[in-house]
Amino acid sequence: MRWVVTGTNRGIGLEMVRQLAARGDEVVATVRDVAAAHLTRALADASGGKVRVVACDVRSDADVGNLAREVGELPVDVVVNNAGVMGKMLSLEGLDLADAVSTFDANALGPIRVVRALLPALSRSRASVKRVVQVSSGMGSITDNTSGGAYAYRMSKAALNMANKSMSVDLAARGFVCIVMNPGWVQTDMGGSGANTPVDVSVRNMLGRIDALGPDDNGAFFDHKGGTFPY
Ligand SMILES: NC(=O)c1ccc[n+]([C@@H]2O[C@H](COP(=O)([O-])OP(=O)(O)OC[C@H]3O[C@@H](n4cnc5c(N)ncnc54)[C@H](OP(=O)(O)O)[C@@H]3O)[C@@H](O)[C@H]2O)c1
Repeated sequence: MRWVVTGTNRGIGLEMVRQLAARGDEVVATVRDVAAAHLTRALADASGGKVRVVACDVRSDADVGNLAREVGELPVDVVVNNAGVMGKMLSLEGLDLADAVSTFDANALGPIRVVRALLPALSRSRASVKRVVQVSSGMGSITDNTSGGAYAYRMSKAALNMANKSMSVDLAARGFVCIVMNPGWVQTDMGGSGANTPVDVSVRNMLGRIDALGPDDNGAFFDHKGGTFPY
């Protein structure tokens, strides 16, 4: 399988590249700063050419266009939109709207840019289904929001979920399965010190779910343990 995974210099994305490389899959691993992405580059160096590191800020049309050029004529079987930011955690009164716009750009529009640019490559996949995975969050669930706050993050992930729903409808006839994943509360920079899920466990669970995807899963919101999560 050939994967494109965004945001792979640390956290969930880095661990995903590590596990995919260990099982011999091919990965185009995007990072914002290739020179600083020592751990991702080390995985690439040890992969015998199977892992490639490509620069991409998902807020940049030019970067995403370059990513598509780097993929070239190769088929891509799975795109994982993992790159994301928390945004500032501010009250309703104190909300920084410029930060909210930037968060929305990275978390909601970034995945649309990436999928749009990689549609030709995904269309060339000969896998049983062409997989698009949005790494969203339980905080993007409207049903699950009982604690309020986190406007920029929650809104951006809810928008991502809606984008995925439309993609799942628009691309179904072309053999795509587009899903949303909640990775859990994961021990990364974003998850912070209170997080209860080791990153290797979250990623192993997500990969198991992604591997098993079939046409009936199109449009679903999964949590990393394999069950579904409410929109
Ligand atoms: N950790 C959790 O508990 C948790 C829970 C629910 C959902 N998630 C989601 O899981 C995904 C990964 O989170 P994480 O915990 O691994 O976070 P993380 O440790 O903060 O890593 C975030 C990754 O996204 C990259 N990134 C941020 N903005 C980007 C942009 N504009 N373009 C390209 N890459 C960008 C970062 O690159 P730089 O180093 O260059 O900033 C980094 O590689 C995110 O979408 C997050 O919302 C995480």
